[in-house]
Amino acid sequence: MIRYLKTTICLLLMGLLLCGAGLQEWRKIKIKPAVQRSGDPGQGLDYLMNGDFVDSGFPISPEFNLFGDVGHDQQLSPFSRISVDDVEMIAPNCFQCHADSLNGAYILGLGNTSFDFTVDMSFAAQLMAIQLVSIYGEDSKEQQAAQPFIRALAATASHIQTEVVGANPADKLAAVLAAHRNRDDLTWQEEATMEIPEEVVPADPPAWWLLKKKHAMFTTGVGRGDFARLMMASSLLTLQDTVKAREVDEHFADVLAFINTIEPPKYRGVVDQELAEVGRSLFEEQCSGCHGSYGDDASYPNYLIDLDLIKTDSLLASSNFAYPAFTEWYNDSWFAQGRHRAYLEPGRGYVAPPLDGVWATGPYFHNGSVPTIYHVLQSSERPTYWSMNRSSHAYDHEYVGREIKVKSYKQDKYTYDTTIPGYGNQGHEFGDEFTEDERMAVLEYLKTI
Ligand code: HEC
Ligand code: HEC
Repeated sequence: MIRYLKTTICLLLMGLLLCGAGLQEWRKIKIKPAVQRSGDPGQGLDYLMNGDFVDSGFPISPEFNLFGDVGHDQQLSPFSRISVDDVEMIAPNCFQCHADSLNGAYILGLGNTSFDFTVDMSFAAQLMAIQLVSIYGEDSKEQQAAQPFIRALAATASHIQTEVVGANPADKLAAVLAAHRNRDDLTWQEEATMEIPEEVVPADPPAWWLLKKKHAMFTTGVGRGDFARLMMASSLLTLQDTVKAREVDEHFADVLAFINTIEPPKYRGVVDQELAEVGRSLFEEQCSGCHGSYGDDASYPNYLIDLDLIKTDSLLASSNFAYPAFTEWYNDSWFAQGRHRAYLEPGRGYVAPPLDGVWATGPYFHNGSVPTIYHVLQSSERPTYWSMNRSSHAYDHEYVGREIKVKSYKQDKYTYDTTIPGYGNQGHEFGDEFTEDERMAVLEYLKTI
Protein backbone atom coordinates (compact mmCIF):
# COMPACT_ATOMS: atom_id res chain seq x y z
CA MET A 1 0.00 0.00 0.00
CA ILE A 2 2.75 2.39 1.03
CA ARG A 3 4.68 1.48 -2.11
CA TYR A 4 1.59 2.16 -4.19
CA LEU A 5 1.18 5.57 -2.51
CA LYS A 6 4.84 6.40 -3.10
CA THR A 7 4.53 5.57 -6.79
CA THR A 8 1.40 7.69 -7.09
CA ILE A 9 3.07 10.67 -5.39
CA CYS A 10 6.13 10.16 -7.56
CA LEU A 11 4.05 10.10 -10.74
CA LEU A 12 2.13 13.15 -9.59
CA LEU A 13 5.34 15.06 -8.92
CA MET A 14 6.80 14.05 -12.25
CA GLY A 15 3.60 15.14 -13.95
CA LEU A 16 3.77 18.51 -12.23
CA LEU A 17 7.40 18.96 -13.20
CA LEU A 18 6.78 17.98 -16.79
CA CYS A 19 3.73 20.16 -16.83
CA GLY A 20 5.82 23.08 -15.47
CA ALA A 21 8.47 22.58 -18.13
CA GLY A 22 5.72 22.19 -20.70
CA LEU A 23 4.15 25.45 -19.62
CA GLN A 24 7.46 27.24 -20.06
CA GLU A 25 7.88 25.71 -23.52
CA TRP A 26 4.30 26.45 -24.44
CA ARG A 27 5.10 30.12 -23.85
CA LYS A 28 7.91 29.97 -26.40
CA ILE A 29 6.51 29.63 -29.88
CA LYS A 30 8.85 28.59 -32.65
CA ILE A 31 8.46 30.83 -35.71
CA LYS A 32 8.68 28.96 -39.01
CA PRO A 33 10.75 30.31 -41.90
CA ALA A 34 9.29 31.54 -45.20
CA VAL A 35 11.00 31.46 -48.59
CA GLN A 36 12.69 34.78 -49.41
CA ARG A 37 13.62 36.27 -52.77
CA SER A 38 17.24 36.81 -53.73
CA GLY A 39 18.60 39.95 -55.35
CA ASP A 40 21.60 42.14 -56.06
CA PRO A 41 22.96 43.88 -52.92
CA GLY A 42 24.76 46.66 -54.86
CA GLN A 43 21.60 47.60 -56.70
CA GLY A 44 19.69 47.38 -53.44
CA LEU A 45 21.91 50.00 -51.78
CA ASP A 46 21.71 52.22 -54.83
CA TYR A 47 17.91 51.98 -54.81
CA LEU A 48 17.78 52.77 -51.08
CA MET A 49 19.85 55.92 -51.62
CA ASN A 50 18.57 57.15 -54.98
CA GLY A 51 15.40 55.20 -55.79
CA ASP A 52 11.94 56.73 -56.06
CA PHE A 53 10.01 54.26 -53.85
CA VAL A 54 8.77 57.43 -52.16
CA ASP A 55 7.93 59.25 -55.38
CA SER A 56 6.89 62.64 -54.13
CA GLY A 57 8.36 65.15 -51.70
CA PHE A 58 9.59 68.72 -51.52
CA PRO A 59 10.29 70.20 -54.98
CA ILE A 60 13.65 71.91 -55.20
CA SER A 61 15.08 74.33 -57.71
CA PRO A 62 17.95 76.83 -57.66
CA GLU A 63 15.49 79.40 -56.21
CA PHE A 64 13.83 77.06 -53.70
CA ASN A 65 15.86 74.55 -51.77
CA LEU A 66 15.32 74.23 -48.06
CA PHE A 67 17.75 71.38 -47.81
CA GLY A 68 21.03 72.44 -49.30
CA ASP A 69 23.07 69.78 -51.04
CA VAL A 70 21.72 66.47 -49.73
CA GLY A 71 21.16 62.95 -50.84
CA HIS A 72 22.66 62.36 -54.18
CA ASP A 73 24.91 59.64 -55.44
CA GLN A 74 27.23 58.00 -52.97
CA GLN A 75 26.35 60.11 -49.98
CA LEU A 76 24.33 58.46 -47.21
CA SER A 77 21.49 60.79 -46.29
CA PRO A 78 17.99 60.49 -44.79
CA PHE A 79 16.68 62.23 -47.92
CA SER A 80 16.87 61.04 -51.52
CA ARG A 81 17.04 63.32 -54.49
CA ILE A 82 14.50 62.12 -57.04
CA SER A 83 13.11 63.31 -60.31
CA VAL A 84 9.44 62.69 -61.12
CA ASP A 85 7.81 64.10 -64.29
CA ASP A 86 10.79 66.43 -64.70
CA VAL A 87 10.43 67.83 -61.22
CA GLU A 88 13.46 67.56 -58.95
CA MET A 89 12.44 66.68 -55.43
CA ILE A 90 13.82 65.75 -52.06
CA ALA A 91 12.01 62.73 -50.59
CA PRO A 92 12.45 61.13 -47.17
CA ASN A 93 13.95 57.62 -47.26
CA CYS A 94 14.48 54.65 -44.92
CA PHE A 95 17.49 56.24 -43.19
CA GLN A 96 15.16 58.68 -41.44
CA CYS A 97 14.51 55.80 -39.05
CA HIS A 98 17.21 53.22 -39.91
CA ALA A 99 20.57 55.00 -39.48
CA ASP A 100 22.03 56.82 -36.51
CA SER A 101 25.15 58.36 -34.99
CA LEU A 102 26.84 56.61 -32.13
CA ASN A 103 29.93 57.92 -30.45
CA GLY A 104 31.08 59.78 -33.54
CA ALA A 105 30.25 57.09 -36.15
CA TYR A 106 27.23 57.12 -38.49
CA ILE A 107 25.91 53.55 -38.54
CA LEU A 108 23.76 52.36 -41.43
CA GLY A 109 20.94 50.06 -40.31
CA LEU A 110 20.99 51.17 -36.68
CA GLY A 111 17.57 52.30 -35.39
CA ASN A 112 17.43 56.09 -35.21
CA THR A 113 17.17 57.45 -31.66
CA SER A 114 16.80 61.17 -32.28
CA PHE A 115 13.95 61.73 -34.74
CA ASP A 116 11.40 64.11 -33.24
CA PHE A 117 7.89 62.75 -33.73
CA THR A 118 6.52 64.72 -30.75
CA VAL A 119 5.47 67.63 -32.97
CA ASP A 120 2.23 67.64 -34.96
CA MET A 121 3.49 68.35 -38.47
CA SER A 122 0.04 69.20 -39.91
CA PHE A 123 1.11 72.86 -40.07
CA ALA A 124 4.07 71.85 -42.28
CA ALA A 125 1.68 70.39 -44.87
CA GLN A 126 -0.30 73.64 -44.96
CA LEU A 127 2.81 75.76 -45.10
CA MET A 128 4.25 73.70 -47.92
CA ALA A 129 1.06 73.92 -49.97
CA ILE A 130 0.96 77.73 -49.61
CA GLN A 131 4.66 78.11 -50.40
CA LEU A 132 4.46 75.99 -53.54
CA VAL A 133 1.64 78.10 -54.94
CA SER A 134 3.46 81.34 -54.17
CA ILE A 135 6.72 80.13 -55.74
CA TYR A 136 5.53 78.08 -58.73
CA GLY A 137 1.96 79.27 -59.17
CA GLU A 138 -1.37 77.42 -59.09
CA ASP A 139 -1.49 74.05 -60.97
CA SER A 140 2.23 74.10 -61.71
CA LYS A 141 3.93 70.75 -62.34
CA GLU A 142 5.85 71.28 -59.09
CA GLN A 143 2.64 71.64 -57.14
CA GLN A 144 1.21 68.52 -58.82
CA ALA A 145 4.31 66.49 -58.10
CA ALA A 146 4.30 67.44 -54.41
CA GLN A 147 0.61 66.63 -53.98
CA PRO A 148 0.89 62.97 -52.88
CA PHE A 149 3.43 63.96 -50.23
CA ILE A 150 1.41 66.90 -48.91
CA ARG A 151 -1.83 64.92 -48.69
CA ALA A 152 -0.09 62.05 -46.86
CA LEU A 153 1.50 64.48 -44.41
CA ALA A 154 -1.84 66.21 -43.82
CA ALA A 155 -3.70 62.92 -43.31
CA THR A 156 -1.18 61.28 -40.98
CA ALA A 157 0.60 64.04 -39.03
CA SER A 158 -1.91 64.46 -36.21
CA HIS A 159 -2.09 60.68 -35.64
CA ILE A 160 1.55 59.84 -35.12
CA GLN A 161 2.75 62.06 -32.30
CA THR A 162 4.89 60.31 -29.72
CA GLU A 163 5.61 61.29 -26.11
CA VAL A 164 9.40 61.47 -26.38
CA VAL A 165 11.97 62.33 -29.01
CA GLY A 166 13.39 59.10 -30.43
CA ALA A 167 10.21 57.01 -29.96
CA ASN A 168 9.01 55.81 -33.36
CA PRO A 169 5.35 55.67 -34.50
CA ALA A 170 5.94 53.70 -37.74
CA ASP A 171 3.39 50.97 -36.90
CA LYS A 172 0.66 53.57 -36.46
CA LEU A 173 1.82 55.43 -39.57
CA ALA A 174 1.39 52.23 -41.63
CA ALA A 175 -2.11 51.72 -40.23
CA VAL A 176 -3.20 55.31 -40.97
CA LEU A 177 -1.84 55.09 -44.52
CA ALA A 178 -3.68 51.80 -45.05
CA ALA A 179 -6.89 53.47 -43.89
CA HIS A 180 -6.49 55.90 -46.80
CA ARG A 181 -5.81 53.27 -49.45
CA ASN A 182 -8.05 51.05 -51.53
CA ARG A 183 -6.86 47.58 -50.58
CA ASP A 184 -7.08 46.15 -54.11
CA ASP A 185 -5.52 48.85 -56.31
CA LEU A 186 -3.84 50.88 -53.51
CA THR A 187 -5.14 54.20 -54.83
CA TRP A 188 -5.53 57.08 -52.34
CA GLN A 189 -8.86 57.66 -50.65
CA GLU A 190 -9.48 61.01 -49.05
CA GLU A 191 -11.81 59.57 -46.40
CA ALA A 192 -10.31 57.01 -44.01
CA THR A 193 -12.03 53.65 -44.54
CA MET A 194 -11.38 52.27 -41.07
CA GLU A 195 -11.48 53.66 -37.59
CA ILE A 196 -8.14 55.12 -36.54
CA PRO A 197 -7.33 54.40 -32.88
CA GLU A 198 -6.28 57.26 -30.59
CA GLU A 199 -3.18 55.78 -29.02
CA VAL A 200 0.27 55.90 -30.59
CA VAL A 201 2.28 52.90 -29.41
CA PRO A 202 6.01 53.49 -29.87
CA ALA A 203 8.49 50.98 -31.32
CA ASP A 204 12.27 51.01 -31.51
CA PRO A 205 13.45 49.99 -35.02
CA PRO A 206 15.49 46.75 -34.78
CA ALA A 207 18.99 46.91 -36.29
CA TRP A 208 18.96 45.80 -39.94
CA TRP A 209 21.86 43.36 -39.54
CA LEU A 210 19.62 41.10 -37.43
CA LEU A 211 17.07 40.47 -40.16
CA LYS A 212 19.03 37.70 -41.89
CA LYS A 213 18.57 35.48 -38.82
CA LYS A 214 14.87 36.14 -38.38
CA HIS A 215 11.86 34.18 -39.56
CA ALA A 216 9.42 37.02 -38.88
CA MET A 217 9.69 40.78 -39.13
CA PHE A 218 9.05 43.34 -36.40
CA THR A 219 9.46 43.15 -32.64
CA THR A 220 6.09 41.43 -32.31
CA GLY A 221 6.92 38.93 -35.06
CA VAL A 222 3.71 39.99 -36.84
CA GLY A 223 5.36 40.33 -40.28
CA ARG A 224 5.27 37.00 -42.14
CA GLY A 225 5.89 35.77 -45.64
CA ASP A 226 7.96 37.77 -48.13
CA PHE A 227 10.19 40.29 -46.31
CA ALA A 228 10.81 42.45 -49.40
CA ARG A 229 7.05 42.85 -49.82
CA LEU A 230 6.63 43.74 -46.13
CA MET A 231 9.34 46.41 -46.31
CA MET A 232 8.02 48.15 -49.38
CA ALA A 233 4.94 49.24 -47.44
CA SER A 234 6.92 52.45 -46.80
CA SER A 235 5.92 53.41 -50.34
CA LEU A 236 2.30 53.71 -49.21
CA LEU A 237 3.24 57.24 -48.20
CA THR A 238 3.06 58.55 -51.75
CA LEU A 239 2.44 55.61 -54.11
CA GLN A 240 -0.07 56.22 -56.97
CA ASP A 241 -1.35 52.69 -57.51
CA THR A 242 -0.43 49.02 -58.00
CA VAL A 243 1.41 49.70 -61.28
CA LYS A 244 4.03 51.61 -59.32
CA ALA A 245 3.77 49.11 -56.45
CA ARG A 246 4.83 46.25 -58.75
CA GLU A 247 7.86 48.21 -59.92
CA VAL A 248 8.93 49.08 -56.37
CA ASP A 249 8.32 45.48 -55.26
CA GLU A 250 10.83 44.14 -57.78
CA HIS A 251 13.53 46.52 -56.55
CA PHE A 252 12.91 45.49 -52.97
CA ALA A 253 14.29 41.99 -53.59
CA ASP A 254 17.61 43.85 -54.10
CA VAL A 255 17.02 45.95 -50.99
CA LEU A 256 16.54 42.78 -48.94
CA ALA A 257 19.72 41.32 -50.46
CA PHE A 258 21.60 44.47 -49.42
CA ILE A 259 20.17 44.45 -45.88
CA ASN A 260 21.27 40.83 -45.53
CA THR A 261 24.89 41.83 -46.24
CA ILE A 262 25.08 44.32 -43.34
CA GLU A 263 27.30 43.12 -40.50
CA PRO A 264 27.02 44.36 -36.91
CA PRO A 265 29.56 47.04 -35.93
CA LYS A 266 32.43 45.82 -33.74
CA TYR A 267 32.70 47.12 -30.18
CA ARG A 268 35.49 49.67 -30.11
CA GLY A 269 36.45 49.73 -26.42
CA VAL A 270 38.72 47.51 -24.36
CA VAL A 271 37.36 44.04 -23.53
CA ASP A 272 38.51 41.97 -20.54
CA GLN A 273 38.67 38.61 -22.37
CA GLU A 274 38.89 36.49 -19.21
CA LEU A 275 35.82 38.10 -17.72
CA ALA A 276 34.00 37.81 -21.07
CA GLU A 277 34.73 34.05 -21.05
CA VAL A 278 33.06 33.74 -17.61
CA GLY A 279 30.16 35.75 -19.03
CA ARG A 280 29.89 33.46 -22.02
CA SER A 281 29.22 30.37 -19.85
CA LEU A 282 26.62 32.25 -17.82
CA PHE A 283 24.99 33.48 -21.03
CA GLU A 284 24.89 30.02 -22.53
CA GLU A 285 23.25 28.65 -19.36
CA GLN A 286 20.70 31.40 -18.77
CA CYS A 287 20.09 33.19 -22.03
CA SER A 288 20.92 31.07 -25.09
CA GLY A 289 17.68 29.09 -24.79
CA CYS A 290 15.85 32.17 -26.07
CA HIS A 291 18.54 34.32 -27.73
CA GLY A 292 20.70 31.64 -29.39
CA SER A 293 24.46 31.24 -29.30
CA TYR A 294 27.26 33.21 -30.93
CA GLY A 295 30.76 32.62 -32.20
CA ASP A 296 31.88 29.51 -34.07
CA ASP A 297 28.78 27.35 -33.59
CA ALA A 298 26.28 30.15 -33.82
CA SER A 299 22.60 29.27 -33.83
CA TYR A 300 19.38 31.21 -33.36
CA PRO A 301 16.10 29.52 -32.37
CA ASN A 302 13.53 32.14 -33.58
CA TYR A 303 11.14 32.17 -30.62
CA LEU A 304 8.16 34.39 -29.99
CA ILE A 305 7.94 34.71 -26.20
CA ASP A 306 4.50 34.91 -24.63
CA LEU A 307 3.59 38.08 -22.72
CA ASP A 308 3.04 36.02 -19.53
CA LEU A 309 6.67 34.94 -19.60
CA ILE A 310 8.42 38.06 -20.91
CA LYS A 311 6.22 40.54 -18.96
CA THR A 312 7.54 43.61 -20.85
CA ASP A 313 5.06 46.37 -21.76
CA SER A 314 2.21 44.55 -23.50
CA LEU A 315 0.61 47.43 -25.43
CA LEU A 316 2.45 47.02 -28.75
CA ALA A 317 1.81 43.28 -28.97
CA SER A 318 -1.81 43.58 -27.87
CA SER A 319 -2.52 46.47 -30.26
CA ASN A 320 -2.28 43.86 -33.03
CA PHE A 321 -5.42 42.31 -31.54
CA ALA A 322 -7.07 45.49 -30.38
CA TYR A 323 -7.40 46.86 -33.92
CA PRO A 324 -8.09 43.89 -36.19
CA ALA A 325 -9.21 46.20 -39.02
CA PHE A 326 -5.62 46.87 -40.10
CA THR A 327 -4.63 43.19 -40.05
CA GLU A 328 -7.72 42.32 -42.07
CA TRP A 329 -7.01 45.14 -44.54
CA TYR A 330 -3.45 43.94 -45.04
CA ASN A 331 -4.28 40.24 -45.35
CA ASP A 332 -6.93 40.96 -48.00
CA SER A 333 -4.88 43.60 -49.82
CA TRP A 334 -2.58 43.65 -52.85
CA PHE A 335 0.36 42.91 -50.48
CA ALA A 336 -1.04 39.48 -49.60
CA GLN A 337 -1.49 38.31 -53.21
CA GLY A 338 0.65 36.26 -55.56
CA ARG A 339 3.81 34.21 -55.28
CA HIS A 340 5.63 36.72 -53.07
CA ARG A 341 2.76 37.33 -50.69
CA ALA A 342 3.27 38.82 -47.26
CA TYR A 343 0.79 38.69 -44.41
CA LEU A 344 0.34 39.70 -40.79
CA GLU A 345 0.02 37.11 -38.04
CA PRO A 346 -0.63 38.71 -34.65
CA GLY A 347 0.94 36.82 -31.74
CA ARG A 348 0.75 37.30 -27.98
CA GLY A 349 4.31 38.40 -27.28
CA TYR A 350 7.69 39.59 -28.53
CA VAL A 351 10.45 38.01 -30.55
CA ALA A 352 13.55 37.16 -28.48
CA PRO A 353 15.91 39.02 -30.82
CA PRO A 354 19.37 37.95 -31.98
CA LEU A 355 21.93 39.91 -29.93
CA ASP A 356 24.66 40.46 -32.55
CA GLY A 357 26.07 43.97 -32.09
CA VAL A 358 23.73 44.47 -29.13
CA TRP A 359 26.27 46.82 -27.52
CA ALA A 360 25.25 49.39 -30.17
CA THR A 361 21.48 48.97 -30.31
CA GLY A 362 20.38 50.73 -27.12
CA PRO A 363 18.04 51.89 -25.78
CA TYR A 364 16.62 48.39 -25.30
CA PHE A 365 13.36 46.45 -25.59
CA HIS A 366 10.74 46.87 -28.29
CA ASN A 367 9.86 50.35 -27.02
CA GLY A 368 13.38 51.58 -26.24
CA SER A 369 12.42 52.03 -22.58
CA VAL A 370 15.63 50.72 -20.97
CA PRO A 371 18.80 52.73 -21.65
CA THR A 372 21.61 50.20 -21.07
CA ILE A 373 22.19 46.45 -20.99
CA TYR A 374 23.09 46.72 -17.30
CA HIS A 375 19.54 47.96 -16.73
CA VAL A 376 18.15 45.13 -18.88
CA LEU A 377 19.87 42.68 -16.51
CA GLN A 378 18.94 44.45 -13.24
CA SER A 379 15.27 45.38 -13.38
CA SER A 380 15.19 47.14 -9.97
CA GLU A 381 17.76 49.71 -11.18
CA ARG A 382 15.90 50.80 -14.31
CA PRO A 383 15.28 54.56 -14.27
CA THR A 384 11.64 55.73 -14.41
CA TYR A 385 12.58 59.03 -16.10
CA TRP A 386 15.74 59.50 -18.13
CA SER A 387 17.09 61.33 -21.11
CA MET A 388 19.82 60.50 -23.53
CA ASN A 389 22.94 62.60 -23.82
CA ARG A 390 22.09 63.72 -27.36
CA SER A 391 24.61 66.42 -28.02
CA SER A 392 27.44 63.93 -28.53
CA HIS A 393 25.54 60.62 -28.94
CA ALA A 394 27.96 59.51 -26.25
CA TYR A 395 28.52 55.92 -25.17
CA ASP A 396 28.51 54.40 -21.68
CA HIS A 397 31.16 51.64 -21.68
CA GLU A 398 30.50 50.61 -18.10
CA TYR A 399 26.75 50.01 -18.30
CA VAL A 400 26.93 49.25 -22.04
CA GLY A 401 24.53 51.52 -23.87
CA ARG A 402 23.82 55.16 -24.56
CA GLU A 403 24.97 57.70 -22.02
CA ILE A 404 21.98 59.06 -20.10
CA LYS A 405 20.95 61.43 -17.34
CA VAL A 406 18.48 60.12 -14.78
CA LYS A 407 15.62 62.56 -14.15
CA SER A 408 13.10 62.85 -11.34
CA TYR A 409 10.12 63.81 -13.53
CA LYS A 410 9.20 64.34 -17.20
CA GLN A 411 11.09 67.55 -17.67
CA ASP A 412 10.71 68.03 -21.43
CA LYS A 413 10.12 66.20 -24.72
CA TYR A 414 13.55 64.55 -24.38
CA THR A 415 12.66 62.87 -21.08
CA TYR A 416 11.60 59.23 -21.49
CA ASP A 417 8.69 58.66 -19.10
CA THR A 418 8.20 54.95 -18.42
CA THR A 419 4.87 55.54 -16.62
CA ILE A 420 3.05 56.29 -19.90
CA PRO A 421 1.10 53.31 -21.35
CA GLY A 422 3.21 51.67 -24.08
CA TYR A 423 6.41 53.18 -22.68
CA GLY A 424 6.73 50.85 -19.64
CA ASN A 425 10.14 49.38 -18.71
CA GLN A 426 8.98 46.34 -16.74
CA GLY A 427 9.56 42.62 -17.32
CA HIS A 428 12.41 40.48 -18.72
CA GLU A 429 13.68 39.75 -15.19
CA PHE A 430 16.08 37.02 -16.31
CA GLY A 431 19.20 38.91 -15.16
CA ASP A 432 17.94 39.74 -11.66
CA GLU A 433 19.23 36.50 -10.11
CA PHE A 434 22.84 37.18 -11.11
CA THR A 435 25.29 38.46 -8.49
CA GLU A 436 26.76 41.83 -9.43
CA ASP A 437 30.00 40.07 -10.53
CA GLU A 438 28.11 37.64 -12.75
CA ARG A 439 26.09 40.47 -14.28
CA MET A 440 29.27 42.41 -15.13
CA ALA A 441 30.74 39.26 -16.70
CA VAL A 442 27.68 38.83 -18.95
CA LEU A 443 27.92 42.52 -19.90
CA GLU A 444 31.54 42.00 -20.85
CA TYR A 445 30.62 39.00 -23.00
CA LEU A 446 27.84 40.91 -24.76
CA LYS A 447 30.42 43.48 -25.94
CA THR A 448 32.07 40.72 -27.98
CA ILE A 449 29.10 39.34 -29.96
C1 HEC B 1 9.10 56.41 -39.90
C2 HEC B 1 10.20 55.55 -39.56
C3 HEC B 1 10.53 54.40 -40.48
C4 HEC B 1 10.80 54.44 -41.82
C5 HEC B 1 10.78 55.65 -42.73
C6 HEC B 1 11.12 53.09 -42.20
N1 HEC B 1 11.06 52.25 -41.12
FE1 HEC B 1 11.55 50.30 -41.08
N2 HEC B 1 10.92 50.17 -39.14
C7 HEC B 1 10.53 51.23 -38.37
C8 HEC B 1 10.12 50.75 -37.06
C9 HEC B 1 9.63 51.58 -35.90
C10 HEC B 1 10.28 49.35 -37.09
C11 HEC B 1 9.94 48.39 -35.96
C12 HEC B 1 8.46 48.13 -35.92
C13 HEC B 1 8.07 47.07 -34.94
O1 HEC B 1 8.88 46.20 -34.67
O2 HEC B 1 6.93 47.08 -34.47
C14 HEC B 1 10.80 49.02 -38.41
C15 HEC B 1 11.13 47.75 -38.82
C16 HEC B 1 11.81 47.47 -40.00
C17 HEC B 1 12.39 46.20 -40.31
C18 HEC B 1 12.26 44.96 -39.48
C19 HEC B 1 13.47 44.59 -38.76
C20 HEC B 1 13.32 43.35 -37.92
O3 HEC B 1 14.37 42.87 -37.57
O4 HEC B 1 12.22 42.87 -37.58
C21 HEC B 1 12.98 46.33 -41.54
C22 HEC B 1 13.77 45.29 -42.29
C23 HEC B 1 12.73 47.67 -42.01
N3 HEC B 1 12.02 48.35 -41.03
C24 HEC B 1 13.12 48.17 -43.24
C25 HEC B 1 12.76 49.42 -43.71
C26 HEC B 1 13.02 49.89 -45.06
C27 HEC B 1 13.74 49.11 -46.13
C28 HEC B 1 12.53 51.16 -45.13
C29 HEC B 1 12.50 52.08 -46.33
C30 HEC B 1 11.88 51.56 -47.50
C31 HEC B 1 11.98 51.48 -43.82
N4 HEC B 1 12.12 50.40 -43.00
C32 HEC B 1 11.44 52.70 -43.50
C33 HEC B 1 10.52 52.56 -38.76
C34 HEC B 1 10.70 53.01 -40.04
C1 HEC C 1 12.36 33.36 -22.04
C2 HEC C 1 13.16 33.94 -23.09
C3 HEC C 1 14.29 34.88 -22.72
C4 HEC C 1 15.34 34.64 -21.85
C5 HEC C 1 15.58 33.43 -20.98
C6 HEC C 1 16.17 35.82 -21.95
N1 HEC C 1 15.64 36.73 -22.83
FE1 HEC C 1 16.46 38.49 -23.34
N2 HEC C 1 14.80 38.94 -24.42
C7 HEC C 1 13.74 38.11 -24.64
C8 HEC C 1 12.73 38.83 -25.37
C9 HEC C 1 11.38 38.28 -25.83
C10 HEC C 1 13.21 40.13 -25.56
C11 HEC C 1 12.46 41.29 -26.23
C12 HEC C 1 11.57 41.93 -25.17
C13 HEC C 1 10.87 43.19 -25.62
O1 HEC C 1 11.38 43.84 -26.53
O2 HEC C 1 9.83 43.55 -25.05
C14 HEC C 1 14.53 40.17 -24.97
C15 HEC C 1 15.36 41.27 -25.00
C16 HEC C 1 16.69 41.27 -24.55
C17 HEC C 1 17.61 42.35 -24.72
C18 HEC C 1 17.32 43.67 -25.43
C19 HEC C 1 17.59 43.54 -26.89
C20 HEC C 1 17.26 44.79 -27.64
O3 HEC C 1 17.95 45.08 -28.63
O4 HEC C 1 16.33 45.52 -27.28
C21 HEC C 1 18.80 41.97 -24.17
C22 HEC C 1 20.08 42.77 -24.12
C23 HEC C 1 18.58 40.65 -23.62
N3 HEC C 1 17.29 40.26 -23.88
C24 HEC C 1 19.55 39.93 -22.95
C25 HEC C 1 19.30 38.74 -22.26
C26 HEC C 1 20.25 38.08 -21.41
C27 HEC C 1 21.66 38.55 -21.15
C28 HEC C 1 19.61 37.00 -20.91
C29 HEC C 1 20.14 36.00 -19.92
C30 HEC C 1 20.31 36.49 -18.59
C31 HEC C 1 18.28 36.95 -21.47
N4 HEC C 1 18.12 38.03 -22.29
C32 HEC C 1 17.35 35.96 -21.23
C33 HEC C 1 13.65 36.80 -24.22
C34 HEC C 1 14.48 36.19 -23.31
